[in-house]
Amino acid sequence: CTVNGIQDLLGRAGLDTPVPEFPGGDIVHNPQDIFRAYLAETLQKLVDCDRVVAYDAIQPSNMTGMGDLVVVSPRLRLKDVRPKDLVSDLAHRLPRSPPFACPIPDGIHLRVLSSPNTLSRLLLPYIHDRNKSYGYDASVGLVDAKVPDGPKKKVIVEFSSPNMASEFQVSHLRSTLIGAYVANIHAGMGWDVVKMNYLGDWGKQIGLLAAGWQRFGSEEEFQSAPLQHLLQVNHKIEELFKPEQDECRAAKADGKDVTEIESRGLYAERDAFFKKMEDREPEAIALWQRFRDATVEDYKESYARLGIQFDEYSGESQVSAESVEEVETALKEKGVYEEHEGSWMIDFSKHNAKGLSTAVVRYRNGTTSYLLRDLAAVLDRAKAHSFDKMIYVVAMEQEMHFHRVTKTLELMDRADLSEKIQHVAFAKITGLLDQFKDAQLLSDYLDGCRLAMQAGMSDDAEDPVFVTKTDKSMESLGLSGLFIQDLNHKRTTSYACDPKRMTSFEGETGAAIQNCYARLLSILEEKPEELDYATLDYSQLETEDHSEILRIMTQFPDTTYASFKTLEPTAVIIYLGRLVDQVMVTLDDDDEQDWTGREEATKARMALYETARQVLENGLRMLGLSPWSP
Ligand code: ARG
Repeated sequence: CTVNGIQDLLGRAGLDTPVPEFPGGDIVHNPQDIFRAYLAETLQKLVDCDRVVAYDAIQPSNMTGMGDLVVVSPRLRLKDVRPKDLVSDLAHRLPRSPPFACPIPDGIHLRVLSSPNTLSRLLLPYIHDRNKSYGYDASVGLVDAKVPDGPKKKVIVEFSSPNMASEFQVSHLRSTLIGAYVANIHAGMGWDVVKMNYLGDWGKQIGLLAAGWQRFGSEEEFQSAPLQHLLQVNHKIEELFKPEQDECRAAKADGKDVTEIESRGLYAERDAFFKKMEDREPEAIALWQRFRDATVEDYKESYARLGIQFDEYSGESQVSAESVEEVETALKEKGVYEEHEGSWMIDFSKHNAKGLSTAVVRYRNGTTSYLLRDLAAVLDRAKAHSFDKMIYVVAMEQEMHFHRVTKTLELMDRADLSEKIQHVAFAKITGLLDQFKDAQLLSDYLDGCRLAMQAGMSDDAEDPVFVTKTDKSMESLGLSGLFIQDLNHKRTTSYACDPKRMTSFEGETGAAIQNCYARLLSILEEKPEELDYATLDYSQLETEDHSEILRIMTQFPDTTYASFKTLEPTAVIIYLGRLVDQVMVTLDDDDEQDWTGREEATKARMALYETARQVLENGLRMLGLSPWSP
């Protein structure tokens, strides 16, 4: 797709005037901008307004059957004319020639339809040419990075980030799903993406785990199922630790000093081991390293089932001593670091940030805090990657923590870093599938998806199903169900898993989209080896059904750009749902016709379905899903 190529395609559709240029219009990536430009130019001539004002008065329509573009008449800013009158006047005077068909007045809106003739001749070769990159646009990312023509910008997307030797929580699951989308859409929009998993692999809880290992650890069990075993050990030691914690809590509640309690028993053992880790004593580090290696290896396999590969398994353990020192030196220099009975803290209320209260940065026994590690990690990452943006995909509960991170960076005089940081927060999943209730590891959730799908499939036996029913396909459909269900909620809305919806073949669901994809694949088996898009008989695609598929496909780039701006994936899912509905209806209609001997029509239809398949694939990949494969 080049401007000349596009002009050529338009010529074949009977449109010889060059596409008018408008600021922000990007006809090479977004075909809707072609129609927008022609419409704005025509409007400007009809009502004599400013051309850019005319362009900005045009909105995309995102309802099936309700036109392609919408002129919002008050936005034309004309004096002395009622918007409704303006609409009916325009409806009369708008030429009914390519690229437009008959307009529909609708209150203060004029709904404009693209002509079926132009749609087929322009869109099919256009999308065919853009192929895997249709809907993505490298320049969108650069505009977003405020350097339109510069080299690629780098973003670190940190997501998933579970804790070693403890459960993979639902919040980690949601972070994984949203994070994959955030990473994919950035890559598609031209960013250089580093996918980072920041493991909770450091801290006092590892000291406690080591105390547990001494009592309950079994080499044999660790060899055969490392994560399960570490989890068991952890549960046992937590059980043992509980009375001591209760004692401490009670003493605190009575306003008593807890120093004595915390200096004996498992408290002492835990803290001593963690202190050894912080002092990098070889024996402590060796044990910790074995736990960590086993954890990473196991996680890699589970993430692979989800189609996710991290570029880096960083973690709280990986922050460098130099950066920790750099943070603390800066805090002291700026006079914001306060010592209080041996621990170091920041009282944010003294620095215009009351809501952030007081945070301990370094504990009394000299060990680092979660906050200090995160601050040092920012410096490390800046040194290693010199990122332009860093996104943390972490649960909403940690909002205050990330505010503290950015506020502290500002106090350290590192606003250059804090302004690049974005916390992409998300709400809780409140109700779980039965199949998730006992899940402890990521792999348990993935198995749960397969089981839920198998259970759901037998209920729904009546739906026309084009997918096969093997174990592999149940896993793939189950995972699609999981992704789509989650990403179809706004990030900051909490929701309960709905097994019926998650496995349904109707509506905006994973199974419905993949089923449509499978149906397209089977139709396309009849496709001739080579389809020549230059000689197709496009007049075969001017029916209402076929045009509607083309219309929806035109809207894909607008949808993905909007999703990128807000980092909300639901727009993409709603879009895919519309495309799926229209494709299914059209295929049903096609099934009722006899296509024997209608070779030209068949070829044109195959080209249409091939492009629809491509758009579905692009959308699924953006959401982190692989399209169905038999
Ligand atoms: N491991 C943490 C948890 O499970 C999440 C880490 C979030 N990322 C960060 N940079 N603090 O709560």
